[in-house]
Amino acid sequence: MLGRLNHVALAVPDLAAATAAYRDTLGARVTAQQALPEHGVTVVFIDVGNTRIELLEPLGEGSPITAFLEKNPSGGMHHVCYEVDDILAARDRLKASGARVLGDGNPRTGAHGKPVLFLHPKDFFGTLVELEQA
Ligand code: CO
Repeated sequence: MLGRLNHVALAVPDLAAATAAYRDTLGARVTAQQALPEHGVTVVFIDVGNTRIELLEPLGEGSPITAFLEKNPSGGMHHVCYEVDDILAARDRLKASGARVLGDGNPRTGAHGKPVLFLHPKDFFGTLVELEQA
C-alpha cells in the first residue's frame, strides 16, 4: 500500500527566514510561497532530488500548526507524507485495522492538487502521517 516518500514537512515560525536559509545557506532550489487558506498554512517546497521538503508557516486563525509551534517555538518536523495509489482503499484498510484518520475521514485536496489524508500521530509512534494519492 505504502509508496514513495513524497515530502517531509517542517513547521517554521518565519517562512521567509527559513526559505532564505535553505536557498542561500544550504544552496537548495526553493519554490515561491503558496498560500493554502483552506489548510491554514503558507508553504514553500524545496526539491532535494529524491524527495521534497515542505516548509509550513501558520496562515490565519486556527491554523493546524499554531499549537505545534507553541510547543516547538524554533520549529520542527511536523509530518511525513507517503504516496498511495488509491487513497480511498488505503483509508478503508487503515480504518479496518483501527488507525484513526483525522478530520471527517474524507480526503481533501492538498498542496499538489491531489487528495490527501492525515493519520493520528499516536497510531504511528508519535509522527503525524500524511497520505497522498500519487
Ligand atoms: Co504535507
